[in-house]
Amino acid sequence: MMELSREAFRSVGRFWRANIRRFGIYDKVHPAETTPSRLVPEHIEKPDYILGKLLNTSKKPEIKNEEQIKGMRNSCNVAANILKIVQPFVQPGVTTDDIDELVHTLSLEAGAYPSPLHYKGFPKSVCTSVNNVAVHGIPDLRPLQNGDIVNVDITVFFKGYHGDCSKTFLVGDVDDHGLHLVHATEDCLNQAIKICGPDVPFCDIGFRIHRIAKRHKLTVLPAFVGHGIGKYFHGPPEIYHTQNRYPGLMKPGMTFTIEPVLSHGNENTILLEDGWTVTTEDGARAAQAEHTILITEDGAEILTK
Ligand code: MF3
Ligand code: CO
Ligand code: CO
Repeated sequence: MMELSREAFRSVGRFWRANIRRFGIYDKVHPAETTPSRLVPEHIEKPDYILGKLLNTSKKPEIKNEEQIKGMRNSCNVAANILKIVQPFVQPGVTTDDIDELVHTLSLEAGAYPSPLHYKGFPKSVCTSVNNVAVHGIPDLRPLQNGDIVNVDITVFFKGYHGDCSKTFLVGDVDDHGLHLVHATEDCLNQAIKICGPDVPFCDIGFRIHRIAKRHKLTVLPAFVGHGIGKYFHGPPEIYHTQNRYPGLMKPGMTFTIEPVLSHGNENTILLEDGWTVTTEDGARAAQAEHTILITEDGAEILTK
């Protein structure tokens, strides 16, 4: 084993103290071993990408009619209800694979397909992103530790429509930096939803979130965008969470997600070798919050409340 010189030892110590001051105290996680993909019975209706006949989605954001909106309300209710049941289950000692099993079972019980499962090869029924994992964490056998933060991102396909929402949960006692990050991220999502309504530019969402994140002295990770949703999991429009020039205006009947990811550190992220897990480059924690919303005649309605 290499021995550190006294000076090197001091400088490592300075580095850690500086990092703790900026990023707080937490366990930096690495993907762990996991269990096989879970099975879905025959009678559960499958989305297009499972049946191998991909929907061709239009280039323009879809304006949904009453029947389609009804479909969105139902699928979003199922997703939101599962997220509420999962919340108290997230405790120290529980693995993210246990969360996957719960989400999988609750989806099937509701008569829904867990949308992430085999979507473009994703192996699990939910995304669970712990601490320095920004998005698309694959549920695994690492027990959650006191002080972790974990985003649980639930999407279900129910009676022909997807509903998508996520929340970052606190595991036991989380340090002040972590609490601030999680609360600020929720603040960004909520403030962004408030400005949505007919004829508001999509790009206003990013400007709003950027401003609020800055006020909280946090960074928005620009790599991740919200999306139109319906019979398709991801479609137009793209919703940027930072300053942007994306064209177009919101119209009544549109449904899309807003899902900002914030961090204490820099903007950069790394895609790991599993092809899914995205971590922050500097190891800082990231938090995310997501709702599916509907543009109405006089504002926006949260469908995944
Ligand atoms: N639910 C994620 C989103 O908000 C997408 C997950 S794709 C998966 O858009 F394949 F990782 F599940
Ligand atoms: Co999601
Ligand atoms: Co989404």
